[in-house]
Amino acid sequence: MVNFNTAAGCFLASALFAMVVGKVSNALVDPHHLEKPAIAVSDAEPEAAGPAKPAELPPIAPMLAKANVDHGKQLYQKLCTTCHTDEKGGPNKIGPNLWGVVGRKKGSHPGFSYSSGVEAKGGEWTYEDLNHWLLKPSAFIKGTKMAFAGLPKEQERADLIGYLRTMNDNPPPLPDATEAPAAAPENKPQGQPEKK
Ligand code: HEC
Repeated sequence: MVNFNTAAGCFLASALFAMVVGKVSNALVDPHHLEKPAIAVSDAEPEAAGPAKPAELPPIAPMLAKANVDHGKQLYQKLCTTCHTDEKGGPNKIGPNLWGVVGRKKGSHPGFSYSSGVEAKGGEWTYEDLNHWLLKPSAFIKGTKMAFAGLPKEQERADLIGYLRTMNDNPPPLPDATEAPAAAPENKPQGQPEKK
């Protein structure tokens, strides 16, 4: 009898122990406990965070007003002529002819077969749209055929757009730099006397 009770007690004790170990290790390892809240949080976010991104690029207007057109021409010849011509009546190459592209309707050059992304984008090529485009074409228009990584330097984009503006019979007026939101904070306000 004693032996049986001891044996039964041992059996119960180890069964309990096994259950406890099982629960504890479940709690430590089971990934489901973490998954649910993480999904709930990210479900709520995309709409709030998504559309804000593209607007973060500061306007090119202030730099465009001081663009170095000669430097822009050099950049154009180095980076764009593999795929584009820009003289009046020039042929399409891998990309469309760029004469008059500033102010031109997007995806509208005769005889060029654009991607559906560019055709569907809508509107004209404004200075600011060109700024977004040249920063990273694939980010501005999803699925574009223009295989160009982008120009991260704002000054280079301004010079290049300043040059493109000259390849035009009737370029749109330069955007008014003074109407643009305040320039970068490190710029000192001009025309204010220094305190002595
Ligand atoms: C590797 C070839 C390639 C290079 C390099 C390239 N482009 Fe393009 N570009 C294209 C193609 C292809 C398209 C048409 C895009 C589409 O339909 O998705 C295009 C379209 C464009 C458009 C839109 C034109 C329109 O009619 O809507 C502009 C503006 C443009 N490129 C400017 C430039 C500039 C400026 C450079 C130099 C910094 C450049 N591209 C470099 C291939 C290129």
